Amino acid sequence: MPNLPRIVFSGRSNVGKSSLINSLSGRKKLALTSSTPGRTRAINLFNINNQWVFVDLPGYGYARVPQKMRLGWQTLIEGYLTSDQEIRLVMLIVDSRHDLSPLDKTMYDFLSYHEMKIQVVATKIDRMRSTHQGRSLRKIEHSLGVEGLVAYSSQTGKGKKELWGIIKEV
Ligand code: GTP
Ligand code: MG
Repeated sequence: MPNLPRIVFSGRSNVGKSSLINSLSGRKKLALTSSTPGRTRAINLFNINNQWVFVDLPGYGYARVPQKMRLGWQTLIEGYLTSDQEIRLVMLIVDSRHDLSPLDKTMYDFLSYHEMKIQVVATKIDRMRSTHQGRSLRKIEHSLGVEGLVAYSSQTGKGKKELWGIIKEV
């Protein structure tokens, strides 16, 4: 894969990482998606217009994976994040409908510790009643101590323009 800037997509299993990559790239079948958690099991790199490489990470926190395998994934993800010199931005993807999991916080702390640029994205916003959205999003920002969270829907494309703006800035 060429030495292009890497945009990494990380988050819990089934949160919508692969769907987000497809939505942003406008290519429906670029990254494999599935309603079954644990679909993405390897680190997949996608060349986007010879300008960026989008990196689809396996999701963390999928309980039905044997402990040994979970540790293997953790080593794989941490090893990748600390060794690829081309990483410019890591999207930490969370579900807009749920409270953050301890693993999301661990991931955020890990990325901060390694001084990586982080963009938090709250996906599946289409699944949430608009009257509840603001409160939920503020709560996520508050629990991580961040601002500028982007609400996203891979179904409607909400947040796409905003996220592309951020990617193009890095
Ligand atoms: P793993 O690879 O297993 O870690 O999952 P993932 O994070 O890549 O999730 P994936 O993109 O495969 O999506 C999981 C499920 O959520 C699929 O059924 C998607 O159709 C659905 N989904 C993803 N994004 C959205 C969204 O923005 N809105 C709605 N309504 N559904 C979504
Ligand atoms: Mg996936």
